Amino acid sequence: MWGGRFEAGPSAIMREINASIPFDKALWRQDIAASKAHVAMLGACEIVSGEDAVAITKGLEAVAAEYEANGVPEDWDLEDIHMTTESRLAELIGPVAGRLHTARSRNDQVATDFRLWVRDAVDQADRGLKALQVALVTRAGEHAASIMPGFTHLQTAQPVTLGHHLMAYYEMIARDRSRFADARRRMNRSPLGAAALAGTGFAIDRHMTAQALGFSAPTDNSLDSVSDRDFALDFLMAAAQCSLHLSRLAEEFIIWASQPFGFVTLPDALSTGSSIMPQKKNPDAAELVRGHSGRIVGCLTALMITMKGLPLAYSKDMQDDKPPVFEAASLLALSVAAMTGMVAETRFRTERMRAAAELGFATATDLADWLVRQADIPFREAHHITGAAVKLAEQRGVALDQLPLADLKVIDSRIDERVFKALSVEASVAARKSHGGTAPDQVRLRVAQARTTLGL
Ligand code: ARG
Repeated sequence: MWGGRFEAGPSAIMREINASIPFDKALWRQDIAASKAHVAMLGACEIVSGEDAVAITKGLEAVAAEYEANGVPEDWDLEDIHMTTESRLAELIGPVAGRLHTARSRNDQVATDFRLWVRDAVDQADRGLKALQVALVTRAGEHAASIMPGFTHLQTAQPVTLGHHLMAYYEMIARDRSRFADARRRMNRSPLGAAALAGTGFAIDRHMTAQALGFSAPTDNSLDSVSDRDFALDFLMAAAQCSLHLSRLAEEFIIWASQPFGFVTLPDALSTGSSIMPQKKNPDAAELVRGHSGRIVGCLTALMITMKGLPLAYSKDMQDDKPPVFEAASLLALSVAAMTGMVAETRFRTERMRAAAELGFATATDLADWLVRQADIPFREAHHITGAAVKLAEQRGVALDQLPLADLKVIDSRIDERVFKALSVEASVAARKSHGGTAPDQVRLRVAQARTTLGL
């Protein structure tokens, strides 16, 4: 009745909309591993004979070898990776292949395969993030005492050290890694054996398959096992948060590389030229990291919205869980690699940073602090006096420490020559030795701790 609009008839549309093989073939290794664990258990529990279990195992290994050599064939009639593998297994070993699906369902099968895949993605993310941390602590160690302007509102605020700034990202990445580690711990339970939704009447050993697949234990509720995807969402939430950090770091490099800043020279290998403007060197990799974070957050949103409102247990909507997770995982891996290269290879133009730190009266707080400490003036009043000094320096077009003492004394007679020691950017950062402060000694301390944590 509605065929006029469509070239294909309804059954062809059904085949196409139903087929997940175009993307879930990425699960083939996990699918083979889970099937091998399952059949070994069926054999051990005498649900299939030892002989059949061996035949099925060998058959699965043969299928895996074919996939390895030629890729996974995409036949929409076979819907997904589970049916594709089982069908090929039957072609290779005959009807005994049909015993593999005893005491399981595609519902617990896909939940298991996907958890295994996401667990690997977590491990991959962790390795990449660790490499990024290594790059950060290495550069931070080199620049523990390199002075740059610190900003709030992107306005010069107080001098900081470049090492301190880089270590801020080390801390963010450390929390990202701990979010991935939390996600891994929670997801590491085996849904295999939950079967379609209610468990199975066969006397299976779920602990055995859990152990074989490296899970800490089986899950405890069969309905939950086949119907939740919070493990995938945990991954996406950690990935989204991490991508926000990467995006902010990318944004810093983009700003720093712009000509008015000129704080960095980006590695050629992670930049591109312009087809029309010969002078251009564009921070494309950083911009794409910033852009990819939007897509990763989109993947999280997509799966959250897929899952909301689904009744227990499995619904086919859940087949759509994989593309956003696959996409986010590969975008994240690329982004982490790009930022690692950028941190490791960028040339920091410390003389430009130092000069910029001199601008914008970055040590005004130090003048106010000095008035508090040396002249016992309440901070609010010191703030006011300093404001007057900044105004005068601004009128004259000089830095604070270039104002003659006589002029400072006109503003407040309690100021004396010792103040100049406090007004240099070096003195400013060196003074900030509070725990977690920007003083070079504090940065060196934190870098040393971080290197130990990283096993360097
Ligand atoms: N391809 C399916 C998925 O990814 C496998 C589970 C199918 N289960 C079912 N009852 N149709 O979700």
